[in-house]
Formats: sequence, structure tokens, C-alpha cells
Amino acid sequence: MPTEILAADESGIAQAALLLCKGKLVAFGTETVYGLGADATNAGAVAAVFAAKGRPAFNPLICHFESADAAFADVAPNKLATRLAERFWPGPLTLVLPRRASSLVVPLAAAGLPSLAVRVPAHPVARKLLAAVGRPIAAPSANRSGRVSPTTAAHVLTELDGTIAAILESGPSDVGVESTVIDLSGPEPRMLRPGGVTLEALHETAGFLAPAVAVQVPKGPGMLASHYAPRLPLRLDATCADEDEALLAFGPAPAGAALIFQLSESGDLVEAAARLFAGLRSLDEEGARLKLARIAAMPIPDHGLGRAIIDRLRRAAAPRPEG
Ligand code: TXA
Ligand code: MG
Repeated sequence: MPTEILAADESGIAQAALLLCKGKLVAFGTETVYGLGADATNAGAVAAVFAAKGRPAFNPLICHFESADAAFADVAPNKLATRLAERFWPGPLTLVLPRRASSLVVPLAAAGLPSLAVRVPAHPVARKLLAAVGRPIAAPSANRSGRVSPTTAAHVLTELDGTIAAILESGPSDVGVESTVIDLSGPEPRMLRPGGVTLEALHETAGFLAPAVAVQVPKGPGMLASHYAPRLPLRLDATCADEDEALLAFGPAPAGAALIFQLSESGDLVEAAARLFAGLRSLDEEGARLKLARIAAMPIPDHGLGRAIIDRLRRAAAPRPEG
């Protein structure tokens, strides 16, 4: 079955909503990355997401809601959750909270956990789609499991053509890295994934997240499961480049690389985050065509969105599973 590309106009959104309500899979743009959407209350549709991604069933999905009120009908917020939601929703923040017994979200969406990850996206297409569907949409990033997340409809097509019903053409995602995930279901708040909402912004709203975050700092590539991986190997913190390398540059680039993708000439982390996944994809494709040995990524400063970029690059450089 070929995948249909739908324009994000009134009729395209209505068609996408209809497909979702029938249990089909539709990819749609969010401000972070494209999501692979399924009706979160339909077990067959949620199972199809895991199948399409080739994702292990124990990895839980994020549920997207139209509003904080809608999200908090399915999960029980505490004070901090309410505060973070007021400050950052709609936007690139995901909260993991205890799921309510009354929630119609199928257990498989949360991989059987008693908690549920919820988010209210800011992208106008995502918001219109959620309003049209009138149910939560479970949506992981719309890539095959372990691969680079998509930030354009064309990326999604490369990953999932023929395995999903439709893609809503929503334009390039402007944040470019996934949402920040904060687990508020335990005794202490914990940051599970750095992302589009920076640690600095979180500190302003909830200063006491700091100690919990320290626990999450990856101890090195060996500690991380391979994820966000291009096909070519990735060398981190490159300050020079060889002629058999494709360079992912940040700021003034050293000479010598066979190929360069500039994340941000001026060293702007917001611009770099928005271009990260497209850059990895383009160097990977072009680099493979030119038979290059690897991608070399220049150092990224460890603040603001730099944390999310470093996290994704470390995972992309982590040892790959066989095959
Ligand atoms: O920006 C984003 O968050 C994108 C867009 C499409 O919204 N979605 C996304 O979903 O990145 P996904 O499935 O690729 O990442 C979900 C993350 C994983 O790290 C998962 O382990 C965590 O959220 N997660 C989901 N539910 C959880 C739960 N109940 N407890 C702990 N972690 C959870
Ligand atoms: Mg993902």
C-alpha cells in the first residue's frame, strides 16, 4: 500500500483524522520532529506503530493531547506538573505521570507501565489534527527504530514509505530535536531525556530539578544503547577532519573533509538543533555515495539546546547492535 502525502489544509487534516479514527497510521509534523501517529485508544493501531518502527514493545510511546486539561484527564498531575504545563505547553516538553484508572489509552501505548508520557505539541498542524481526532494520539518519532529522527515529510517517506497510510506535509520541524522528557511519577523529578526545553528554562521554573538531572548524565557512549544512528560510523568532538570523512560542522570548519554540513556558521545552538537530523541524514547519504569512512562531528557547547544535541550525537556514536 503506497503512503499518501496529504497537504495540511482543511481537507488533508480531515482525511488524516478519519484515517486515524479508522485505526490507520498517519505521520504528522510537530515542532520537535515528525511523529508516527496512531489512535492511542485503539490497541490494534498502537500495535501497528511498534510493527512499523520495528520497535521493541517494551519501549513506551508519548501520547499527544490537544490541551493540558485533556492530558490531565488521563494522567494525574502534581503541583510541579501543573506548573511546568502552564509554563511550557503547548511546546516541546513531555511529562511522565501516573495514569488514571479511567484513561482509555491502551496499556500497550505505555508498554504496560502504570505511568504515561503526555505532551501538548505547539505545531499548528499537530494541534488541528488533535482537535479533529478528539482523542489522544500516540506518536513516537516517525523513523525506523534506532535511526535518525525525521524533521521533514521527505525524511518520513524515506523511513516508512509503504508501511503507513499517510503523511501530513507539515513543513520542516523548527525545534529539530525531540521533546525534553521529565518523569514526575516517582518520589523525585527526573529528566529522562534532554530536549527542546532547555535545562536553563526548567531551572527558572523548577530549580530543584538540578540534582536529579545529574544522575542522568550519560557516562559515555558505551553506556548508551545505539539510537539516532546514521549508517556511517560517527566520530565525536572532531577538531580536524580527514579526506575520507564527512564533517558535521558547528562554527568555523577545519579544512580537509570530503564533505561538510554546517549546523550553524555563527555557532547558534537553536539553528544547529533545527538542522541536526537533516545534517546527519544528508552526510550519511552523500558520504555513503562517495564511499567515505565516517562522519566526524565537531564539538558542541554543553549548554542550552547543546545538551540535547550532544545527547543525540553520543547515542548516534554508541556501539551498534549486530546486523
Ligand atoms: O518530540 C517528541 O517527543 C517526539 C514527537 C513526535 O512528539 N516523540 C518522541 O517519541 O520522541 P519517542 O517514542 O521516540 O520517545 C519517547 C520517549 C522515550 O525515551 C521513552 O522511553 C520515554 O519517552 N517514555 C515514554 N513513556 C514513558 C513512561 N511511561 N515512562 C518513562 N519513559 C517514557
Ligand atoms: Mg525516537
